[in-house]
Amino acid sequence: MRTAVVTGAAMGIGKAVAARLIADGVHVVGLDVNADALETARADLGPRFEPLVGDVGDWDAHERAAASAESAGELVHWVNNAGIDWVGAAHEIDAEHIERGLRVLQLGTMYGACVAVRRMLPARAGSIVNVSSIQGIAAFPRYFVYDAAKAAILMVTKSIALDYGPHGIRCNALLPGCIETPMTYTTLPPELDREEALRREGLLAPMLRVGQPEEMAEVVAFLLSDRASYVNGAEVVADGGATARCFAYPPIDLEGGS
Ligand code: NAI
Repeated sequence: MRTAVVTGAAMGIGKAVAARLIADGVHVVGLDVNADALETARADLGPRFEPLVGDVGDWDAHERAAASAESAGELVHWVNNAGIDWVGAAHEIDAEHIERGLRVLQLGTMYGACVAVRRMLPARAGSIVNVSSIQGIAAFPRYFVYDAAKAAILMVTKSIALDYGPHGIRCNALLPGCIETPMTYTTLPPELDREEALRREGLLAPMLRVGQPEEMAEVVAFLLSDRASYVNGAEVVADGGATARCFAYPPIDLEGGS
C-alpha cells in the first residue's frame, strides 16, 4: 500500500490533504501537536488515517512518522504542511519569538524534507510537497519571521529538487493565498462576523472569495502524483489570482467593476 506522511494533518489544509490522499487509496500518517484535533480527524477520516502526536520542530517526530508510514506500506509521499500564524514586526519581537517561529515553520519543513529523502532514497522514488505561502514571495505587514520562513521553504524545495531529482524524488512547493481554515479564523477582525470578514478577505483576490482547503488538497495531490511526473522544484501559487495584482489595495470595486 502507498503511504504518506502529512504534517499538521489534524485540521485545515493538512486535514483536507489527508482526506484527498485517503480517497486515492493512500494510508496517511498524520503528524500534529494537537492530540484532541487528531482524534477528531481520525473519527472523520477513518481507518486509513493514522494519527501521530508530535512537534515538527522535533526531528525525532519526523522519524517516528516515517517509521509508522513504512510499517504500513511503501512511503512515497510526504507533505510538510504544519504551520503557525506568527505575527510580529521586527521592533516588536525578541530572539525567543524568532527562534520559536523558525523552529516550527522553517526547521519543521527542513527536518521533514531530510527525513523524507533519506527514507525514499533506497527505492529511488517519492514526492514531497512543502506548503509555503504567497507570503514567501511578497511580505505582509508585521509577519517578519513568518515571511522569512515561508521564503526559506521555497529554497528548501529547490535544493531538494536539485539534489534528489536524479534519484527519482521530486519536491515542489504550494503557495496558498487566503484559505478558510482555523488558522485564518484567528486572523479575522473580531468586530466583524466571520462570514462578513471572509467576504472582505475574499475581495483581495480576483476570484472575489477566499479559497477552500479542498482546493489546496487537489493541487497537493496532483503534485504528489505521477500526473506531475516532470514537475520538480516548482512553486505553485493557488491564491485566486491575488498575487497577480500589483497592489492589494484599493480593494476591488464591485460596483465600478475594476
Ligand atoms: P491550521 O492552523 O488550520 O492547521 C495547522 C495544523 O498544524 C494544526 O492542526 C496544528 O495543530 C498543526 N501544527 C501547528 N504547529 C505544529 C507543530 N509544531 N507540529 C505539528 N503540528 C503543528 O493552519 P492552515 O491554515 O491549515 O495552514 C496549513 C499550512 O498552510 C501552514 O503551513 C500555513 O502557514 C500555510 N498557509 C495557510 C494559509 C491560509 O490562509 N490558511 C495561507 C498560506 C499558507
